[in-house]
Amino acid sequence: MNIILSGCCGRMGRQVYEACSALGLTVRFGVDLKAEPYAAFPVYTSFSSQKAEQGDVVVDFSLPSCLEGLLDFCIPSGTPLVIATTGYSPADEEKIRKASSHIAVFRSANMSLGIHVLKLLAKHAAGLLDGFDIEIVEKHHNQKLDAPSGTALMLYDSVKKADSVLITDRTPFHRKRDEREIGISSVRGGTVPGEHEVGYYGRGEKILISHSAQDRSIFAVGALRAALFLDGVRDCPGLYSMDDMIQL
Ligand SMILES: NC(=O)c1ccc[n+]([C@@H]2O[C@H](COP(=O)([O-])OP(=O)(O)OC[C@H]3O[C@@H](n4cnc5c(N)ncnc54)[C@H](O)[C@@H]3O)[C@@H](O)[C@H]2O)c1
Repeated sequence: MNIILSGCCGRMGRQVYEACSALGLTVRFGVDLKAEPYAAFPVYTSFSSQKAEQGDVVVDFSLPSCLEGLLDFCIPSGTPLVIATTGYSPADEEKIRKASSHIAVFRSANMSLGIHVLKLLAKHAAGLLDGFDIEIVEKHHNQKLDAPSGTALMLYDSVKKADSVLITDRTPFHRKRDEREIGISSVRGGTVPGEHEVGYYGRGEKILISHSAQDRSIFAVGALRAALFLDGVRDCPGLYSMDDMIQL
């Protein structure tokens, strides 16, 4: 399978290239503003500047600002797209949703299998622990741009109720915690690839469920698994997730 690597010169782009080499997949070309060729595939500064090259699936670990160029390439060429980038605005989310009626799109804010299992456990525990306060803590390296992390927001979605209120900053308030609140706290420092903890705090007891990424390669391998999955459904446009891949 020929992979097109968007954001190829970044931390994750390089990990995906290494994972491709290990799995015997070819990177056909890369796109990155930095345009620093570091392997035997051409790197272009944008999709519009590449020379009519084609590949089987685009894998994207870049920035939300790349979305427009990415979709302008994938939709007309019918190329399936794995989106791993986080930090999109609601308007971007809508563009992705619309694109998925034309092409197969796989999206997950976290490509690791472990986080997916954490999400399932967190949802189940939230259903059992009625009346417990839920707080999510995420930790990432000091170069991360968005906060809270896309994964923390995904975990929030899995534990929230209809009347839950997301709190990411308590400083504007001077009051007790409302029982409908679910807080997300973001820690940034050093080289942490990603840590997430969902805590359930009751009267006299607490339960903590956590996941710690020890190596970025888990995200790269997960994204390539998603690319293989998308290649299999390339003729069925839609918005696919980790749930779809695992069920298959
Ligand atoms: N879904 C997951 O499992 C997962 C895991 C890790 C990181 N991420 C997300 O992936 C994204 C990238 O993370 P990273 O740590 O590799 O970041 P990074 O900053 O190291 O890499 C991003 C790359 O995108 C390039 N880029 C930026 N704007 C561009 C543009 N307009 N056109 C072309 N290239 C452009 C940059 O030059 C850079 O090389 C982030 O949103 C991060 O949150 C997702």
